Amino acid sequence: MSAIGFEGVGLRYPDGTRALEGIDLTVPAGQLCVLLGPSGAGKSSLLAMVNGLARPTAGNVIVDGRRLDRRALREVRPRIGMIHQQFGLAPRASVATNLIAGAAATLPLWRVLSGRWPGPMMARARLLLDQVGLAPDLLARRVDQLSGGQQQRVAIARAFMLDPAIVLADEPVASLDPHHAREILALLGRQARERGATVLCSLHQIDLARDFADRIVGLRGGRIVFDGPPAALDSKGVSSLYQRFPAERAA
Ligand SMILES: Nc1ncnc2c1ncn2[C@@H]1O[C@H](COP(=O)(O)OP(=O)(O)O)[C@@H](O)[C@H]1O
Ligand SMILES: [Mg+2]
Repeated sequence: MSAIGFEGVGLRYPDGTRALEGIDLTVPAGQLCVLLGPSGAGKSSLLAMVNGLARPTAGNVIVDGRRLDRRALREVRPRIGMIHQQFGLAPRASVATNLIAGAAATLPLWRVLSGRWPGPMMARARLLLDQVGLAPDLLARRVDQLSGGQQQRVAIARAFMLDPAIVLADEPVASLDPHHAREILALLGRQARERGATVLCSLHQIDLARDFADRIVGLRGGRIVFDGPPAALDSKGVSSLYQRFPAERAA
């Protein structure tokens, strides 16, 4: 499976913003690693470097022991399931079409255009809908007729269509009620522990991180300020992550 490594990684956006600096982190296969930290800490940027949406301006990102250059990215991308903050669904298409589109790279084009999906793929789509707590009769429904929480769960199901070796989840439960949020975190945990996937997931909810993460990485100002098991993140650690610096308070 696919360990993810960051070696001295820095990311500076073209406008000069330093989003990340000196990131050293290895996430082994089979681990649910949760990124915590205030808005602007660099969580989304860190995830974006694993699927090539952002390129490090210092250091290296390593997947499966290989530096993630263009060629490695082409090979790795199909094995990544990405759950975006904005769901990234096609709103006017059906739930089924959106789910199958997550697996379209493995289908011949005529299949994608015909709308007649292979039976095993439909079966998997139904199973995944069930796992994210949606009824199978939603398959035929248009995405823009679903609630925000339902759409988010469709996006999560889509990321799992190809049984990804790497799951990148950027605040995947932001618009879900606590019950469904816990179901999704449990699903991410099972993907790691039972299927050996490498799961990197940013969250705003500290309680969910505590209950479901194997490991918590705290980011602040583009640097890692905490790295350990949930039990090691005490209230002092939490406040050092989220409390403002005196200088920020004065500003
Ligand atoms: N495309 C971009 N161009 C310039 N700056 C960006 C861009 N994306 C994010 N940033 C900046 O990089 C820093 C980290 O942002 P981000 O990774 O989105 O943090 P988080 O996901 O933890 O809220 C912030 O200062 C943000 O404003
Ligand atoms: Mg973000």
